[in-house]
Amino acid sequence: MSTDVDRAWWKEASVYQVYPRSFNDSDGDGLGDLQGIRNRADYFDELGVDVVWLCPVYDSPNADMGYDIRDYRSIMDEMGTMADWEGLLDDVHDRDMKLVMDLVVNHTSDEHAWFVESRDPDGGKDDWYIWRDGGPDEPPNNWISLFGGPAWTYDERREAWYLHLFDEKQPDLNWENPDIREAIYDMMTFWLEKGIDGFRMDAISCISKPHGLPDADTGEDWFDMDLYFNGPRIHEFMQEMAAETYENYDVMLIGETPGTDPEEAKQYYEDGVDVVVYFDHMDVTYGPGGKWSPDYVGMETLASAGDEELDEMLNTMDLADLQEAIRHWDEGVGDEWNCLYMGSHDQTRAVSRFGDDHEYHRESATLVATFLLTQRATPFLYQGDEIGMTNTDWDRDDIRDVEARGQVDILTDEHDVPYETIAPFVRNRSRDNARTPMQWDDSENAGFTDGDPWIQVNDDYDRINVERAMADPDSIFHYYRRLLDHRSESDVLVYGDTAYVLPDDEYPNVWAHRRTLGEDSVLVVLNWQAEKRDVAGIDGVDSPVLFGNYDGQTTDETTLRPYEARVYDLG
Ligand code: GLC
Repeated sequence: MSTDVDRAWWKEASVYQVYPRSFNDSDGDGLGDLQGIRNRADYFDELGVDVVWLCPVYDSPNADMGYDIRDYRSIMDEMGTMADWEGLLDDVHDRDMKLVMDLVVNHTSDEHAWFVESRDPDGGKDDWYIWRDGGPDEPPNNWISLFGGPAWTYDERREAWYLHLFDEKQPDLNWENPDIREAIYDMMTFWLEKGIDGFRMDAISCISKPHGLPDADTGEDWFDMDLYFNGPRIHEFMQEMAAETYENYDVMLIGETPGTDPEEAKQYYEDGVDVVVYFDHMDVTYGPGGKWSPDYVGMETLASAGDEELDEMLNTMDLADLQEAIRHWDEGVGDEWNCLYMGSHDQTRAVSRFGDDHEYHRESATLVATFLLTQRATPFLYQGDEIGMTNTDWDRDDIRDVEARGQVDILTDEHDVPYETIAPFVRNRSRDNARTPMQWDDSENAGFTDGDPWIQVNDDYDRINVERAMADPDSIFHYYRRLLDHRSESDVLVYGDTAYVLPDDEYPNVWAHRRTLGEDSVLVVLNWQAEKRDVAGIDGVDSPVLFGNYDGQTTDETTLRPYEARVYDLG
């Protein structure tokens, strides 16, 4: 075993992201809860993940499904009690796993006591949020929210504007004020002292705002949001936070850092963050229009396109772009470390986005798994992707996601696009696709709840569910399990350097990379398409196959089948 690597438990670990609201409901109210997660704690163990990251379970009015926190130190009623949470922490630790909590400190809910007090200019907390005076008709600058619509809301009570980079029910905290920083650090210490194993820092690159809050540059059809990210005091705040809170705990710090490039990421690493979450590889599927471009949606052809055409129009991906994104980060951070995810609660379903969720469902989901688990990065799995859960269709009234709702309103009201035209967009873009209930079995509501689910259940649950996946040794679930197990035993897969081999013009839609550590080397080849492809010319494909997603492969067979994934042992 090679020793000249900079080891860390969080590099070797795999992370499983739980979206509690949609994971498992224990009391029939239609919402997932902590007891529900506890009832399924063995599932994490069976899959073989090491860290559970819990999306917010704090008290919240749920304008943004828990990312609008009303009280950082108590548990949302619907989720259970602090005792339930402590029980879950024990369950996770008893299984030798770790628990990472979401940390949402760019903003709170507008129902947080701090904000309620802040609305009173004489209440003592007048400077805890970002307020600007001015008449009700003229916002302080031209900023738009990351969810669409203005980033300022006029408060009648205080007769002033407050800033919200996200929803209007998510006012931004004023990090310039040392009192707010101290209050946040106290709260973080409260959770660290409870024994958690890390924080996933939500939108953390947004906490420092540019001096004077200047207007953003705009053009006819673009708006430069760079001003929102990595503000002038960001690294000072991050370093102070580390010194005041987590520096003396053995925890994993995951920074969600929109608007950050690898150079900037290195500074976060110096501040004490272990891995930053980047988005470049997610953006490669959007096409030139971006996530919610009205021009794109307005295209006449969209309305009349058939399923397959739509798929192509809305879900394009060039492997060269994917490689550029991965490589940019892998090479860009040098000796530092990345994480990688192919799905999350903010994205659509991995198999629908990167694979083929119809004809080659199993093959393409396991190809995506192979891609995810063979990179030099801590892999993050999102609940349900390990059984190949898919995107689905949404009636307008069924949309729950505050972002999708806002964007749909803008598209219908301001751009006059009928909802039927937008519907395929929602299927391809809305975060709701990742938030449909976890599909446990083929009983009513996929075994998620005995009540009325808070969000629609994907109707493919009779085919795609945990019970079925566990009973089938060839399932996507078991493939993940085996590959996770393999990764945890393999230094070369965790720590090896990466050489990028394909794509190139000679092998369209084939991905290949090599990982090398000392004498050990593996070659990963992924036939990312529904056609067969001969890969005989690639160096190493005559080597023994360590891992693959098809049965009966032989090493002298160099034609890869649709979505076939192979990991070769180069010795
Ligand atoms: C992050 C979260 C997302 C949330 C937003 C605002 O991006 O992942 O779900 O809506 O921050 O808190």
